Amino acid sequence: MTIMSSQFRPVLDHIMAEIDRTPGRGRSADYIPALAARDPRRFGMAVAEPDGTVYGVGEWRQPFSTQSITKVFTLALDLAREGDELWEHVGREPSGNPFNSLVQLEYESGIPRNPFINAGALVVTDRLQTRTGDAAGELLAFLRAESGNDALDFDLEVAASETANGDRNAALAHFMASYGNIDNDVPVLLDQYFRQCSVAASCADLALATGFLARHGIRADGSRLLSRSQAKQVNAVMLTCGTYDAAGDFAYRVGLPGKSGVGGGIIAVVPGRCTLCVWSPGLDERGNSVAGVAALDRFTTLTGLSVF
Ligand code: DON
Repeated sequence: MTIMSSQFRPVLDHIMAEIDRTPGRGRSADYIPALAARDPRRFGMAVAEPDGTVYGVGEWRQPFSTQSITKVFTLALDLAREGDELWEHVGREPSGNPFNSLVQLEYESGIPRNPFINAGALVVTDRLQTRTGDAAGELLAFLRAESGNDALDFDLEVAASETANGDRNAALAHFMASYGNIDNDVPVLLDQYFRQCSVAASCADLALATGFLARHGIRADGSRLLSRSQAKQVNAVMLTCGTYDAAGDFAYRVGLPGKSGVGGGIIAVVPGRCTLCVWSPGLDERGNSVAGVAALDRFTTLTGLSVF
């Protein structure tokens, strides 16, 4: 089945009506106290076309905490600068473990499985920091440019909340530093990483900012960030690792490269066709938005758009 752009709106309306009727939506992340207060039933969804046209339903313009979704953008920004050398410092295999797990790091000599678990994202941010001197600032500038929203910013309350509860990320960073896989001082890296995770953005902002992955590496202004091949690689790692130990189930249900965050957002890519972002703060036990995965599942089923 082919779907015309104008058909996105009825599809989104249909999904919204279904989500409204769905009871039980998981729980908001409580390990970052500033996120715990979010109502798990809130919901928004946006679809952006490669030309920057964006459609949405529900709270699609409501900013939320992007969290691990930012790992896609820091990966792309670092890959654009250093190319394949990055893969000597972080792998690209699913971990099968929770996003904040430590167990694989010791028997894999401080090389994290992939850039989307916390350990891997810390390595990517560290390398971007070395190359730019301000990894979080680079990320914010990129998100502002791609979304066209200059008001995007860090949420310093969320960053402070995470810093105060950051023992596990600090442990990951110190442990990798002991293997020589972290260049910067750990407190500097953690400050960059927590600010990175704290960026507040809406479904509309993130669907637009993800557009370069549907345009095979081309930014909103027409310049190239990634080669076509690198854009494929980022999409592939999202498909296999973007939802942690639920990546197999996400691929099975949704059939798209996707990346979740504990703020309740998920981005997804239909290469060549559109990008999506959905937000609902209620999470399942693996840290993925319950209504978010359900909405993406319905989107690909109703439209027939998937990579398979
Ligand atoms: O590192 C953390 O714990 C968070 N700032 C980000 C984790 C996250 O979003 C994992 N995603 N589902």
